[in-house]
Parts: sequence; C-alpha cells; structure tokens
Amino acid sequence: MPDTNEYIQRLRESNPLREPYLRAAIQALRLPVGSRGLDAGCGIGLQVPLLVEAIGPAGHVTGLDLCPEFLVHAERIAEKAGLSGQVSFREGDVRRLPFDDNTFDWAWSADCVGLPLEPLPLVEELARVVKPGGTVAILAWSSQMLLPGHPLLEARLNATSSGIAPFVKGKRPELHFLRALGWFRDVGLDELTAQTFVGDVQAPLSDEIREALISLFEMRWVNVESELSQEDWVEYQRLCEPESSDFILNLPDYYAFFTESLFHGRVAK
Ligand SMILES: C[S@@+](CC[C@H](N)C(=O)[O-])C[C@H]1O[C@@H](n2cnc3c(N)ncnc32)[C@H](O)[C@@H]1O
Repeated sequence: MPDTNEYIQRLRESNPLREPYLRAAIQALRLPVGSRGLDAGCGIGLQVPLLVEAIGPAGHVTGLDLCPEFLVHAERIAEKAGLSGQVSFREGDVRRLPFDDNTFDWAWSADCVGLPLEPLPLVEELARVVKPGGTVAILAWSSQMLLPGHPLLEARLNATSSGIAPFVKGKRPELHFLRALGWFRDVGLDELTAQTFVGDVQAPLSDEIREALISLFEMRWVNVESELSQEDWVEYQRLCEPESSDFILNLPDYYAFFTESLFHGRVAK
C-alpha cells in the first residue's frame, strides 16, 4: 500500500481516465432527483460531483471514508466545485456504518467493497442504511488492455500478484468481485444488475492522459520483477518505462482500454 500522499496523487492522476465512464455508470443507476445518498469509501471524493450532478441541486451526498486525510481533500474538492451545501463528509468504517437503518435513498461504493474487505457483511451494511426500494451499487476495476501488440507480455504481467489485483491471489472464487451478484442475492436485494463500463484512450495523448497511464502502469504492475522471467522484465522496462526510447505511449497509433464493472440491486420493499 503506497503512503497517503502517493495514494492521493494516484487517485487524482487516474481520474481523467475514469471520469467519463464513471459518469455513465452513475447515470445508469437513475438515482432519484432530489435524493440523499452515501458514497462509502469515498476517498478524496472524486465521484461526489458526479453523484450530485445525477441527483440535482435538491439532493445530498454523504461521503464516508476511514482515512481523515482523504476527507480533508474531499472537502476541498467539493468546496472548489461549489458543492459544499450539498455534501458532507464523515470519518467512518464501511464495516460498521455510523448511520441508522433506512437513512439513505441509495448507497454507492467504488473500488472499496470486496477489495480486499470481506464483501458480504459490507453489502449487508450498505443495504441496512438504505431505505426499502433504494439502490445499493458497488463498482470496481475489472480489466485492462494497455499494451497493444504485446498480448502475451500483458497476459503475463496481469498474472502477477499486483496485476491480478483487485482480485487477490488465492481468494475463494465466490469472493471474486465479478461474483458480486451472488453477494447481492445472499443479502436479499432485488432487481440485480451487472454492467461493465469501458474507458478508452488513443493517440495523440494529452499530457493529463499520458500521466494517468504512466501512473496506471506503475499501479497495476508494481514490484513485478520477481514474478517475471528476465526476458519479460527487460521487455516490460523497454515498453513501459517513460525514459525508454521504445516507450509504448510514444506510439503514434497507441490505443488502450480498461473496464470497471458495476453491480447494483434494490433493497426489498
Ligand atoms: C481505491 S480507493 C477508492 C476511493 C474512491 N471511491 C474512488 O473510486 O476514487 C479505496 C478507498 O476505500 C477506503 N476504505 C478502505 N477500507 C475502508 C473501510 N473499512 N471503511 C471506510 N473506507 C475504507 C480507503 O481509505 C480509500 O479511500
């Protein structure tokens, strides 16, 4: 786990890649206009403006995170976006939400539930604080194709312990994020839906997208050297290190895509 400042920087850097499809994912939930919702594990609150956009000026979002430093940044981001009146932040643990039953109209949690926390009690906890008929939604990174033309190297990088995150090596299959429909069914949610959202980028890359991709390479394939053959490690450095003359992001025809998957359901009436 990187230190807090590095983590904040990574969340910020990856946002330009994620924002377009996260907006689409949030819109797909059709959250009621004027509703009140929870962003559980909100981090620095990057999705709070998107959630507010979806519910309109009469709605309210509460962001909750375990890490107080993240919440300081989240408050600043909300203030800068002119949203202070519509959002509040609270330090807390998604495993024991500091809210009464039936507090919210919906709950959203991105890249938190199931990664690596035990998912069932968390989904149950989210469902507990949502009113009957309200939506519970969780989303997580589910795949990437970042090295066009090098599918075997990319497959081997993705088979390393960090590349396979957020799935965590050795995890029981039913705890894999892509089995979330089962978690939702087990806690009694209705109208279960799974949907995958794609982000993609193509050359020429803006500086912002280039930085985001460099950060993504580092995040996705961190400390992989010991898990690769010498040949693959050399090839990884040749293609993925910005100082290499063959750095893949310099390709005039670079194209990449990545996905996050959304699972949602309704609290039974
Ligand atoms: C990968 S970040 C995602 C942040 C944000 N949802 C996003 O997508 O930008 C995971 C977040 O979950 C938070 N988190 C992890 N375990 C938690 C827990 N038990 N209770 C509350 N927040 C938690 C971390 O502090 C971190 O901010």
